[in-house]
Amino acid sequence: MIGNKDCPAENNFKSQPTNGHMQSVLRIAVMISGNGSNLQALIDAIESKQLANVEIAVVISNRADAHGLQRALRHQCPSIYIPWTRKTQQQDAEAKIRQILKIFDVDLIILAGWLRIFSPGFIEQYPQRIINLHPALLPDNSTDTYVTANGAVIPALRGLHVVRQAIEADLPITGSTVHYVVPEVDAGPVIARVEIPILPNDTEDTLHERLKELEHQLIVEAVRDYAKQAKLIVP
Ligand code: GRF
Repeated sequence: MIGNKDCPAENNFKSQPTNGHMQSVLRIAVMISGNGSNLQALIDAIESKQLANVEIAVVISNRADAHGLQRALRHQCPSIYIPWTRKTQQQDAEAKIRQILKIFDVDLIILAGWLRIFSPGFIEQYPQRIINLHPALLPDNSTDTYVTANGAVIPALRGLHVVRQAIEADLPITGSTVHYVVPEVDAGPVIARVEIPILPNDTEDTLHERLKELEHQLIVEAVRDYAKQAKLIVP
């Protein structure tokens, strides 16, 4: 674990007085398994002050070789590797993650390319405090279809490899969804979505790259809205 004052943060304290008010800071844990471009978007937004009153308390990866860890360390974010690639590691990993979230005083857990599924028992300990970024369009309820802004009815793609599935199913549109995490996979209340047309020559890679550009804005906006709704300014 490496921690340092230089990790993007508004301040070093959860709350600091400003003009007689308490200015609170939302402390986020960003959980990753790979590239970490959405983590980078959050880091950049905090550093450039586009995302105010938010600080990255800790970055957690289940893989030591996740490129996102390099990104985090480059910005001196506290960064922790918790081995969890096999099912047998889940119980131990969840126990360690719980401790880390407590030690780092985390308010909101962001799954940004986190490729593990938490147990219901873990999720239930953090009601409305875990959000996930999913690279497909999810409906407001747990139905199997989603109606796009222009009225097209498309399947709600859940689970892994959904960008590829969107192409294989010849969908006209796909997108990404930020939602609260509940025990049912990819089914929690939706916070924000973005739609993107699938182009005739799109491959999984080209589509995912274009989608990620939109996700980078979406995740920042979702965290900004969460921070506002959490009533972080206490009179
Ligand atoms: C994103 O497309 C996200 O929607 C999905 O995993 C991808 C992570 O990308 N859950 P990155 O690691 O942030 O680049």
